[in-house]
Amino acid sequence: MLKRRHSLTRMKLPRCAAASIALCWWAAAAWADNSAPPDAVMGEHRMVVTAHRLASEVGVDILKRGGNAIDAAVAVGYALAVVYPSAGNIGGGGFMTLRLADGHEAFLDFRERAPLAATRDMYLDASGAVVPGLSTDGYLSVGVPGTVKGLEAARSKWGTMTREALLAPAIDLAERGFVLTDADIKIIDNGEYFRAHPNLAAQFLKSNGLPYGSGDRLIQKRLAASLRLVARRGADGFYRGPIAQAIVAASAANHGILSLADFARYRVRELRPISCTYRGYRVVSAPPPSAGGVTLCESLHILEGFPLGQLAFHSAEEVHDLAEAMRLAYADRNDVLGDPDFVRNPIAHLLDPAYAAKLRARIDRRHAGVSVVPARTPHEGSNTTQYSIVDAAGNAVSVTYTLNGLFGANVIAGNTGIVLNDEMDDFTAKVGTPNFFGLVQGEANAIAPGKTPLSSMTPTIVVRDDRTVMVIGSHGGSRIITVVLQMIVDTVDHGMSIAASIAAPRIHHQWLPDILFAEKGALKPEVAAELATEGYKIKELEAPSVAAGILVGGADLRAANIGVAQEAHPRLFGFADPRGPAGAAVGY
Ligand code: DON
Repeated sequence: MLKRRHSLTRMKLPRCAAASIALCWWAAAAWADNSAPPDAVMGEHRMVVTAHRLASEVGVDILKRGGNAIDAAVAVGYALAVVYPSAGNIGGGGFMTLRLADGHEAFLDFRERAPLAATRDMYLDASGAVVPGLSTDGYLSVGVPGTVKGLEAARSKWGTMTREALLAPAIDLAERGFVLTDADIKIIDNGEYFRAHPNLAAQFLKSNGLPYGSGDRLIQKRLAASLRLVARRGADGFYRGPIAQAIVAASAANHGILSLADFARYRVRELRPISCTYRGYRVVSAPPPSAGGVTLCESLHILEGFPLGQLAFHSAEEVHDLAEAMRLAYADRNDVLGDPDFVRNPIAHLLDPAYAAKLRARIDRRHAGVSVVPARTPHEGSNTTQYSIVDAAGNAVSVTYTLNGLFGANVIAGNTGIVLNDEMDDFTAKVGTPNFFGLVQGEANAIAPGKTPLSSMTPTIVVRDDRTVMVIGSHGGSRIITVVLQMIVDTVDHGMSIAASIAAPRIHHQWLPDILFAEKGALKPEVAAELATEGYKIKELEAPSVAAGILVGGADLRAANIGVAQEAHPRLFGFADPRGPAGAAVGY
């Protein structure tokens, strides 16, 4: 059965009523109605923004009990695996970008690795064609999970609380359950789909086989037992005990290739974050095996040469500049980036301002550029989740982690209660053939044993004058990078608040397919017409990307008093993307 589309609510987006704001973009927005601009949630000193209210509350509770932002991030990571089970996980992997109060910056890569038995052509048939579904459904699509080792690594290096304390809220939510709301039903309302996957059905359908409804209590005893094992034995409880054994046994019984050695040898990597500047801000983001930071910075470098702040938000000129910068940066992303243990990533070259100037010079300001190889339109409907946390001391954490597709590979091994990822689809199954997100990728991202697939996840921290000013990121597959890019452009160039930048309608270009995607109402008809005349093929961007962000010291960058001596404990402004059904910013 093919993966279904995720039915996230499409929210009506509000408009700015304050014409006095010089850079007020709302008035120009085609989708404007009469509602007020979105407001961020203000916290005096602490803020947690996640895709689920209960997880945000878990994070805040940890902060209230004296934990730091890293403790909160660990507890939230485990809690989301329970309350946001289509994306939150311990059977997947992800990235953590952090900036400590003393200015130390770090990045943890706890993404999945290819099993040792993986081969370059494992998803091709005898004729060399990609077999549909093989890299997205079932055990052959599962990469060796990294989340538990990643969260444990973060806790032991930068956290202050015990593993047991940080796992306790997740265990409780799984063991005693939580009452489902309408928003939860949007996340797990997957009746037909679960019926085709018995282990998922056992966990996410009622005992009578019917889907859960609002007001029902979701109890996940098996997941609680797995979490308890991790609480008791640490990462070994997952990687060297009954959990690994159950996953390997289920994999072997279902045409998978995972082995105990894959689990035993899993290592978290601490890598140097990508860092670049954009109009006086420093962007700290995800390095390979994420393409996020490099592609984001390459796009920003190209855009720095255009006067975006003087262009109206989503005017034809502005969209043209954005789309062409995206096109050029994604062409490099898809061609040359890969796991740094396996390929040499030409980061210095891609981030050289002289290279950006060369690319910029290639942009024809009157015509759409050309992406040469034809490709299919991406099909959407999957899940990842972003959360952002800042504590009272000023420690900041941005995490994006994922199962890749909606409910990952759609399998739960034995009695573990753990949904497993289908991250192997992020590799190049065949050069020139699009993956689940329509990305047409190259040799650098070919499958190899122990290798990590290239990612778009872009947990990012923006710094000004040695001070953290924004903690941002998004879900959304290949669109993640352009979401983060637009959050930066909208706050820096257009003066939007953190809330407005997240709510603002978005565009997306990823080189191939050569289509300018635009959210409904993102382009006024006359702008769309002008862009069409320039040669753009425009298509509605249907799948919403769910972002999360915190702005430090003000609701927007101007109010954050940039460049002026900051208070020791600036106020925090958090906003959860209204495109997500259950997100919440909780601060105090
Ligand atoms: O790492 C990546 O780039 C993807 N596996 C992320 C998947 C994702 O964001 C799913 N959401 N639409």
